Amino acid sequence: MATSGLRRSLFYFLLLSLLLFRQRSFGVRVNEWVDSVIRMPSQKEGGEGVGTRWAVLVAGSSGFGNYRHQADVCHAYQLLLKGGLKEENIVVFMHDDIAYNEFNPKKGIIINHPQGEDVYAGVPKDYTGKQVHTKNLYAVLLGNNSAVTGGSGKVINSKAEDRIFIYYSDHGGPGVLGMPNMPFLYANDLMEVLMKKHKSKGYKEMVIYVEACESGSIFEGLMTEDLNIYVTTASNAQESSWGTYCPGMDPPPPPELMTCLGDLYSVAWMEDSETHNLKEETIQKQYVRVKSRTSNYNTYTAGSHVMEYGDKSIKSERLYLYQGFDPANANLSDNSLPLQPNRMDVVNQRDADLLFLWQRYERSTEGSEEKVAIRNEMTEKMAHREHLDKSVDLIGRLLFGWDKGSNVLGAKRPSGKALVDDWSCLKSMVRAFEEKCGPLTQYGMKHMRAFANICNEGISLEVMSKACEEVCGRTYKHGILNVASHHGFSG
Ligand SMILES: *[C@@H]1O[C@H](CO)[C@@H](O)[C@H](O)[C@H]1NC(C)=O
Ligand SMILES: *[C@@H]1O[C@H](CO)[C@@H](O)[C@H](O)[C@H]1NC(C)=O
Repeated sequence: MATSGLRRSLFYFLLLSLLLFRQRSFGVRVNEWVDSVIRMPSQKEGGEGVGTRWAVLVAGSSGFGNYRHQADVCHAYQLLLKGGLKEENIVVFMHDDIAYNEFNPKKGIIINHPQGEDVYAGVPKDYTGKQVHTKNLYAVLLGNNSAVTGGSGKVINSKAEDRIFIYYSDHGGPGVLGMPNMPFLYANDLMEVLMKKHKSKGYKEMVIYVEACESGSIFEGLMTEDLNIYVTTASNAQESSWGTYCPGMDPPPPPELMTCLGDLYSVAWMEDSETHNLKEETIQKQYVRVKSRTSNYNTYTAGSHVMEYGDKSIKSERLYLYQGFDPANANLSDNSLPLQPNRMDVVNQRDADLLFLWQRYERSTEGSEEKVAIRNEMTEKMAHREHLDKSVDLIGRLLFGWDKGSNVLGAKRPSGKALVDDWSCLKSMVRAFEEKCGPLTQYGMKHMRAFANICNEGISLEVMSKACEEVCGRTYKHGILNVASHHGFSG
């Protein structure tokens, strides 16, 4: 009885969403027509009406404990689609292990807000699973489909008059962003790709939004003002970014979902876009609002500093040039808005997966094998974190002296200066560490500054390798977290 009732309501739900979807795409078509007939002069300035809008959306993580990054990206896809961007112009990278994950109580459904509707349906599976890696991302950005392996083959085949929007949500660390398949994305490689794209006249202007810990470090001292690119990041070069809508928080996810649904900066920009008329709202306005909300209203107690980089002249443009325009928002004026939610409860990106494990632990049956297994997993995770922290600390002391070690490793460069001068040195130091001490994993990304400073201090690879061997060579057991099981080296 219960299941047939459920099936029936599921049927009605699907029917309803189909109807709504049709209506929506019809609305978009009408709007395009209206647009082509009535062009207001203010909306044409600077050739705004010309060119194609492109987007690249990247969720760099995997696993149910990281639900929120793929939820963010699916949500962004729906937002752009509603805005009238075409599926053929949006490229999505996501591992795609959430919708049908064993821990997802509602199979095939992903939400990005406690009361949110499904954001998964219709999201194109351009690059999923093993295809989500930096090589494919760079090939897609450069519009080079012969360099892509697997996936839909969709690339950003953009022209000089086109605009590109890039949104990335994941874990990060100084100088790097995560990827579900190794290696990490390194800031200098991304910059090289962007410069190539600029040189080949592959776009008119570009806007990039990045959510990750230390995401400012991807652009700090690297992003110049002459590339026609404007960037905002969730955090500065030296701080965490934050997950939100987590179990136990206000507002909480539905009780059967044991993981965080979104990230603070990400839901801030998307919920802002959804409640404004994007033909009126400027990029600058969104930046200011998102900055305020992501700082948790200037308390910064649990929040981060949204940063901006690159060509600031782009900020005066209207958002619809990048994110499109949803006709349903046509009559929203700046003052007709619901008030922004108050202070948000958040969790550090790096602790969100522990929160998920803890939720599973609490809900498992006392004395069950499952409970023991989850406890072991937690113990192992904590031990691995401790191993990484202690090893890096000890390597620093060996290299720079007992007293100076941690100061040198943690030294922050002045703003405007890139994390490291020699990025290939950074990669080789990471590799030297991983060869002896095991993979950094998403938690270990936080130590990237230490490796960068080892380079900045001019330590040779040979000396570094020796230090790693001394610290980890004898004691580190390559357990479940060995490099092979972690899909290769990070550097
Ligand atoms: C595209 O990628 C292929 C394979 O990596 C490479 O040989 C080729 O030079 C690239 N084309 C362009 C235009 O960069
Ligand atoms: C916006 O306002 C106009 C004029 O009042 C009205 O005709 C139109 O239906 C409204 N659009 C939406 C999406 O509410």
